[in-house]
Amino acid sequence: MAHIIDGKAIARTIRSEVAEQVRLIVNRNQRKPGLNLLLVGEDSASNIYVRNKSKDCEQVGIASVVQRLPADVTEEQVLDIIEQWNADKNVDGILVQLPLPRHIDEHRVIRTIDPLKDVDGFHPISAGNLMIGIDGFIPCTPAGVLELLKRSNIDPSGMHAVVVGRSNIVGKPLSMLLAQKRPQGNATVTICHTGTKDLIEYTRSADLLVAAIGRAQAITREHVKEGAVVIDVGINRIPTPSGDAMVGDVDYASVFDVVSAITPVPGGVGPMTRAMLLTNTLRAYHGLQK
Ligand code: GUN
Repeated sequence: MAHIIDGKAIARTIRSEVAEQVRLIVNRNQRKPGLNLLLVGEDSASNIYVRNKSKDCEQVGIASVVQRLPADVTEEQVLDIIEQWNADKNVDGILVQLPLPRHIDEHRVIRTIDPLKDVDGFHPISAGNLMIGIDGFIPCTPAGVLELLKRSNIDPSGMHAVVVGRSNIVGKPLSMLLAQKRPQGNATVTICHTGTKDLIEYTRSADLLVAAIGRAQAITREHVKEGAVVIDVGINRIPTPSGDAMVGDVDYASVFDVVSAITPVPGGVGPMTRAMLLTNTLRAYHGLQK
């Protein structure tokens, strides 16, 4: 029987730890940590994500401000707001929800965020720090995966970790973290992607398999080795006779009897991504010193 890695419960524990830290700050009569979120346009998924992030903040005592802008806002107006937030001492973290409308240069917007407030870990300085192993902001999903492993007593050291997916938000940073000589690292890492020939050959040799593909139930029983640890980063909606269902990139039912541990969808990596935004905001508050 596989161990089900309960991301929902672990995320709850992390939120209560953050809430306790914020309580200690407030009890010392110090300013609360603050996260400012920028949402451009009307994308309904982005709207829900931002609302949830803001709700999470309120729940743990972090002050959050959501600035909503119409889809036809100019790039200069977006940059102006970020500059104002960079200069505002009450703003510890800045998050610009992606994607942005096509006429706005996403990279330019991210580069404008003060790297000390880059709680998403998307700034090239954050990416560079991660690459060379300097403490900085780690994007929330890879950070959440490492925290899940840590709190489940799964040590990737010496394992063959296969990461399927090479996105800037998940696959690339997570591969780098798993390979580094540090806790929750020291694995031998293979990155697979759409150009990989014979994916199964790689995934079947994985002790730790991370699916960050973006395709529903793409990893099936034939892809996994007996006893492997499987981390499912996917969030996909599929139609079923009783309405839409949310499934991961892993065919959970087909691999469940073969693997030693697995994250469910929902209730695995997703809640951890949200929780790590709170810990990153607390780290920003402390100037990355804690
Ligand atoms: N859009 C999808 N995922 C993310 C995320 O983690 N951060 C931001 N800012 N936008 C996103």
